[in-house]
Amino acid sequence: MKILIKGAKIVNFDGIIEGNLFIRNSRIAKIGEVSEEPDKIIDAKGKFVLPGLIDMHTHLRTPGREDEEDLWSGSKAAAKGGFTTIFCMPNTRPALDNQGQVNWLLEEAGKIGIIEILPVGAITKGREGKELSEFGMLKKAGCLCLSDDGNPLEDSSLLRRALEYAKMYDLLIISHCEDKNLSASGSLREHLISSKYGMEGIPWASESIAVFRDIELARYLDTKIHIAHVSTKRSLQIIKKAKEEGVKVSCETAPHYFTLTIEDLEKSHFHPNFKVNPPLGNREDLEAIREGLKEGVIDCIATDHAPHSQGEKELPFEEAPPGVVGLELAFSLSYTYLVKAQILDLKDLVKLMSYNPANILGLKDKGYIKEGAWADLIIVDLSRSWQVLPHKLFSKSKNTPFIGHTLEGIVEFTICKGKVVYTEKGKNG
Ligand code: NCD
Ligand code: ZN
Ligand code: ZN
Repeated sequence: MKILIKGAKIVNFDGIIEGNLFIRNSRIAKIGEVSEEPDKIIDAKGKFVLPGLIDMHTHLRTPGREDEEDLWSGSKAAAKGGFTTIFCMPNTRPALDNQGQVNWLLEEAGKIGIIEILPVGAITKGREGKELSEFGMLKKAGCLCLSDDGNPLEDSSLLRRALEYAKMYDLLIISHCEDKNLSASGSLREHLISSKYGMEGIPWASESIAVFRDIELARYLDTKIHIAHVSTKRSLQIIKKAKEEGVKVSCETAPHYFTLTIEDLEKSHFHPNFKVNPPLGNREDLEAIREGLKEGVIDCIATDHAPHSQGEKELPFEEAPPGVVGLELAFSLSYTYLVKAQILDLKDLVKLMSYNPANILGLKDKGYIKEGAWADLIIVDLSRSWQVLPHKLFSKSKNTPFIGHTLEGIVEFTICKGKVVYTEKGKNG
């Protein structure tokens, strides 16, 4: 299949050019004038072509909770949101903690073939934090990174060994930073608001204590570490300092941490769709996250797409599971609240959602639009807006705090390895 994308503004993290883009089979064959006859022409005048987005942090609930999401619905949601590569977290039942599980997942993902699904293996068997999984086998099966996400690794000596083995096998450890003794059974940030309603709160220090320990071990062992879903000002101060001192730490945040605060949670009357882990912070945290994105202290925007069933999200706030869906909203939320709000420019967004994740995970020929790279591309119209309506979401779960919100920027086409895998209704090129 040969596709000609005509007259688009082509955005990379380091520049924007206007021109034609020619795709042959699964790769970008040429940028500029082409004489070859295409099979399909997409007129992209006035639109922007971006590298396909890469999500380092998705929960696809497969195996075990396919009622909430499965590889098919997750892939459709990802493609609609502009993601061409997603990493799925291993907090499934059973956990992705061995070669057999990972082989199975990759086989199933291959049968769907909409976007690329890559596995995150579990650091410990059953994610129980007791015994390391077989890193060599997980690497062999195709894992590039490992995480016990959902749980922190409480045993520092086990994390030390995990980091050492990970270095040996060139695997990235992605750390869910939380001091479980401090967060206990809290379900929102400890704050005037939690006291006012007599709810058990989670102190902000619960995250940064864990961030500090993890960074200290990475420093001691001279290894890489990646901090998942950073949500507090203090964590960012620690990460920034460590980076300046040469520690190989990278980190991500998720859109809800630069768009919402605990005040929005109160305004929602404590709707479980505003319950996430780590919990929503205060205004200072939100501002610090925005600043961290601007300064480059935060390397990526990941979704932490965490689908939960309607039944479970209808439980009382304290009992409902934490997590929000994000694949279909992340780009527009980021565009609306960061680019339109003039905190970042479009090139920065491409860096945070595509170029940096590709680099951090060592994905070859992804995250940058150039001749010879995989034709993983999205075409977006930034002059249009859309309303978040639950029945329009492709994800099986609808647990988002943004229902009813109007967001700017629409993904019109998603192309993965040269194949158009999503087209906005009514668009045919
Ligand atoms: C995640 C989930 O539901 O799997 N929930 C969340 O609120 N972030 C777990 C996690 O990312 O820690
Ligand atoms: Zn987590
Ligand atoms: Zn997660």
